Amino acid sequence: MSYTPHRSIEGSVAVITGASSGIGAATARALVGAGANVALSARRSERLEALTDELGADRVVGVVGDVRDVAHNEALVDAAAQRWGRVDTVVANAGIGAYGGILDLDDEVLREMTETNYLGTVWTVRAGVRHMRAHGNGGDIVIISSVAGFRGGDDEAVYAGTKHAQVGLGGSLDRELRGEGIRVSLVCPAGTSTEFAIGAGREEGSSELDAYLRPEDVAHAVQVVLEQPRSVRTTVWQLWSSEQQS
Ligand SMILES: NC(=O)c1ccc[n+]([C@@H]2O[C@H](COP(=O)([O-])OP(=O)(O)OC[C@H]3O[C@@H](n4cnc5c(N)ncnc54)[C@H](OP(=O)(O)O)[C@@H]3O)[C@@H](O)[C@H]2O)c1
Repeated sequence: MSYTPHRSIEGSVAVITGASSGIGAATARALVGAGANVALSARRSERLEALTDELGADRVVGVVGDVRDVAHNEALVDAAAQRWGRVDTVVANAGIGAYGGILDLDDEVLREMTETNYLGTVWTVRAGVRHMRAHGNGGDIVIISSVAGFRGGDDEAVYAGTKHAQVGLGGSLDRELRGEGIRVSLVCPAGTSTEFAIGAGREEGSSELDAYLRPEDVAHAVQVVLEQPRSVRTTVWQLWSSEQQS
């Protein structure tokens, strides 16, 4: 069954963090496929260069940096605005997971995860809102949280806390910014077959991952959110594969 967009995003300008792999890279492919221009952020420069080559340098700019760095997020939005004159969409996707009991994870691991997943999202979103408010044309902020933002599983309490924090941020910001025509959407996937999921103790190619969402499923959800007419807001979208227990 094919999907007919209600609103074209062709020619629009998006910023995507965590674009060097997984959901972020799939979202870059989906949005460029729908005609958007994209500014991509991550720390691994060679991955961003490869994706830029794949999608075409006329439609993609890569900005290497750390999402925990306020200045990197401002530079990312500025790079998109300088290249294409505006920013319509910000996808705050960068994130890491570390799993273990509350007493088992190192201080630094917990600090990095909290700063990346929550504060990194705040800095990315804030840079986007600053630009959108200055231009007065509204826009879309899409935060990739998780179903763990509603109910965390065993051995992921701090991770789930960061994802709950994103849900709180997004819901509140949507109310704050609605009057300016800025929609804030939370896309919340269950387990998705990416390097992140493999890093959580699963083997690449294991049958467990076959039951997971694919990064393209999540990317398509982001695209659908953006293609809704401006009269429609998607505040929260939870995604599960048909084989996952919700
Ligand atoms: N996979 C799942 O099961 C799942 C389920 C629900 C929600 N999510 C969420 O989906 C998002 C994307 O994860 P994924 O599954 O696509 O994992 P992934 O393939 O590991 O991608 C994570 C991305 O985040 C970037 N990143 C991590 N730390 C960063 C930092 N400090 N600064 C800049 N970029 C950083 C990574 O790039 P560099 O390493 O190159 O910097 C990478 O591009 C995360 O927020 C995650 O919580 C994932």
